[in-house]
Amino acid sequence: MSSVIKVNLPENAYEIAIAPASLDQLGEKMSSLQLGKKVLLVSNPMIFKHYGTRAIASLENAGFEVTSYNLPAGEHYKTLNSIQKIYNIALENRLERSSTMVALGGGVIGDMTGFAAATWLRGINVVQVPTSLLAMVDSSVGGKTGVNHPHGKNLIGAFHQPRLVIIDPEVLKTLPAREFRAGMAEVIKYGIIWDAELFSQLAASKHLDQLRYVKTDLINYILTHSCQAKADVVSQDEKESGLRAILNYGHTIGHAVESVTNYRLFKHGEAVGIGMVAAGEIAVELGLWAKEDAESQNALIQKAGLPIKLPTDLDIETIIDALQLDKKVKAGKVRFVLPTQIGVVKVTDEVPTDIIIKVLQQMQ
Ligand code: NAD
Ligand code: GLY
Repeated sequence: MSSVIKVNLPENAYEIAIAPASLDQLGEKMSSLQLGKKVLLVSNPMIFKHYGTRAIASLENAGFEVTSYNLPAGEHYKTLNSIQKIYNIALENRLERSSTMVALGGGVIGDMTGFAAATWLRGINVVQVPTSLLAMVDSSVGGKTGVNHPHGKNLIGAFHQPRLVIIDPEVLKTLPAREFRAGMAEVIKYGIIWDAELFSQLAASKHLDQLRYVKTDLINYILTHSCQAKADVVSQDEKESGLRAILNYGHTIGHAVESVTNYRLFKHGEAVGIGMVAAGEIAVELGLWAKEDAESQNALIQKAGLPIKLPTDLDIETIIDALQLDKKVKAGKVRFVLPTQIGVVKVTDEVPTDIIIKVLQQMQ
């Protein structure tokens, strides 16, 4: 199975190519984009060990001159210091305006490589080769790039669309199971915000929590439908002036939970799962969403092996305080994405704090 999804942007259109073993076609696919010869491939040691040689062979066979650079793995390295290291390699290797950075990795490597490419020489090409489920369905598409500030996640960044996204589902075989489940949270998100058919397909599957138990056809379906959902939204609102905000479903409470637990207790996708449960319950409390639909959503989140409860010792007041620091707060009002049907959401900043507290208390 192979599919190509187009991200239709007036100035920065590109394709997302999804196919088994497409890692070996990286060079060939890039050749058709008329890019310069020099490529800097950025990865981390573990991912490079698995896939670096194949990626480089494909690029060299297509005539590219490749330098590779590995950053240490982990969100803690998503910093300006790591970007400086990429710049140093770019300088040493005389990367030019026509050169390309290739991100081979999860969302951390993708966001950093994208940001380095957005800023080196005021912007050079970037190609995304996502290797985690989360990066395949979310972070590699849409052009958000950036790094963390010591006081907040993703506070430094730029929009910089990739020239191409190559998704090889086979690389998921080496992804740790917990990372697979975390990525599944973002897949469920697309089912709720955009694609009711995707939601039904997920609901019909016996398993969602481990790659080996999920049918290959369903994995392909998940990748194509999730990328299509993201491409649809981004094509209509590249820089998040409106519609794109719906991609933050589950992220309002999710980010607050991540932040009050110091980004250690939950993976991002796990916190998003908890945030989707909370947003669903808030929508039910406000009379916007049917209780049965919220229950179906929560069953799916559980089937994906994701938590649906908050730790009992977490102070709800600290979550409420953290909501005020969210990037999405406007004029002191916290913005929520709330479902009205499966596949349809609305954005509102009219959620009374006592409803948020009630829902969070019920989730402990
Ligand atoms: P990650 O990049 O840290 O990857 C998770 C772990 O899996 C890492 O240890 C990585 O080395 C490993 N890994 C990845 N692919 C592997 C593979 N195929 N085989 C073996 N190990 C593999 O985390 P993530 O969940 O991919 O991404 C999270 C990051 O993405 C966060 O920094 C978040 O802010 C960002 N993000 C960005 C956007 C966006 O639109 N730009 C959207 C969502 C998330
Ligand atoms: N992950 C949210 C966005 O890309 O807008």
